[in-house]
Amino acid sequence: MISTASGHQVYFGMKRLGERKPARVTLAPVGAQEVRSPAPVPIDSKAVKILSVVGARPNFIKISPIVNELRRVEGVTHVLVHSGQHYDDGLSLAFFRDLRIPEPDVNLQVGSGTHAWQTAEIMKRLEPVLVEQNPDLVLVVGDVNSTLAGAMTAAKLGFRLAHVEAGLRSFDRSMPEEINRKLTDAVADILFASEESGVQNLRNEGVPAERIFLVGSVMVDTLFEHLNGARNSPMLVHLGLVDENGKPLDYVLVTLHRPSNIDSSGMLGKIASALEDLSDELPVVFPVHPRTRQRLEQLGIHATNHKAGEGHGPMLLEPLGYLDFIGLMDHARLVLTDSGGVQEETTALGVPCLTLRENTERPATVSYGTNQVTGADPARWLPAARSILKGNYKKGSGVPLWDGRAAKRIVEVLMSLPPCSGTGVA
Ligand code: UD1
Ligand code: UDP
Repeated sequence: MISTASGHQVYFGMKRLGERKPARVTLAPVGAQEVRSPAPVPIDSKAVKILSVVGARPNFIKISPIVNELRRVEGVTHVLVHSGQHYDDGLSLAFFRDLRIPEPDVNLQVGSGTHAWQTAEIMKRLEPVLVEQNPDLVLVVGDVNSTLAGAMTAAKLGFRLAHVEAGLRSFDRSMPEEINRKLTDAVADILFASEESGVQNLRNEGVPAERIFLVGSVMVDTLFEHLNGARNSPMLVHLGLVDENGKPLDYVLVTLHRPSNIDSSGMLGKIASALEDLSDELPVVFPVHPRTRQRLEQLGIHATNHKAGEGHGPMLLEPLGYLDFIGLMDHARLVLTDSGGVQEETTALGVPCLTLRENTERPATVSYGTNQVTGADPARWLPAARSILKGNYKKGSGVPLWDGRAAKRIVEVLMSLPPCSGTGVA
């Protein structure tokens, strides 16, 4: 444990970190093609320290395959820092357990707050950790406040920074994630895009081609890695979603947590009432994010935790662990969501998905996949849902490079960067 200048305590896990003078690397061109899928390069055993910053549920899912790949490279020390943005077991520990991610080396224990407070507080607590750890490279994933805070702290200290899932744009600046994405990409040295639109957006913003690598989706890596485990989840049986022969029933799976949908009681009320209508036709399973739970409770709607066929209305559950949730997604007739990651997963599984937003930063899920962006108003999505449930939906096809090997490509690129001298501390 160390104390920061402001007196906050940050906790190191049990793992001892390698002590050595790090081989700092500067950004050097690693290719000049417009859109590159990196060719495999031999991974040598340079002594390199990589520090990743994660903090929220989707971060844990995205870092998991990268951690696994880094473990396979001799000479690499990986330091995992958890900001503490998500702290409930169901949003944090459950994912470390399900995905077998090693315990974080450091937990900044930031907790919840306003955007400015949370971002600033992570930066304050992370700064002394970065100075002490002096990594060769800092890695951030996704678009949450912890991503931005990790990126800004690293960039201001002069550390080389890589962003996984770079370039995604909803072009909707009312989304906090859009601000986080743009600012993170603006300070990142190495940008790993999950789909072609990400590359194009970065090029349009003037990012040189040689910093951009189209590698595919790490979220899909995790999905493929854990699909068998998810298919063994007892959740379907537990929720009464199988018939007497053990065959899955038809049901709809729902996730909602975007402020645009749930912070206005008018919109949330409309959505809740449409879900109730739908649940008269077939079971509607809704694991509820804590932010959404608070808003539903303000509307007088409480968790039910009932089994299919037992209670009335949607089955409002606690947030589920990864394996249980993916197990449910895999058999769902339809997924209704405003989640980013769920759009990717449904496309990868070929499960029909309606995105209850006005836009998506993941257009490949629409152009290649099973996703349809309907907006949140039930007047638009309820007819689309009923049509899908009658069997009218697009089957989708694979998205280029969503093949379960994105993390491998990322690590190959990282290991091919040339070393250089420097302390990395401004
Ligand atoms: C955050 C991300 C969002 C991501 C989502 C994943 C930002 C700006 N938003 O949204 O992009 O899609 O995580 O789930 O980073 N809370 C708990 N327990 C927890 C964590 C939070 O009860 O472990 C409650 C608190 O009341 C908190 C609220 O949820 O104020 C929101 O949490 P926060 O992390 O600020 O944003 P999310 O809505 O989770
Ligand atoms: N997820 C989960 N349990 C749930 C809801 C979602 O494991 O109850 C997973 C989901 O499969 C996806 C990720 O959480 O991998 C998406 O996270 P979230 O929707 O919170 O964030 P976003 O992707 O929108 O940033």
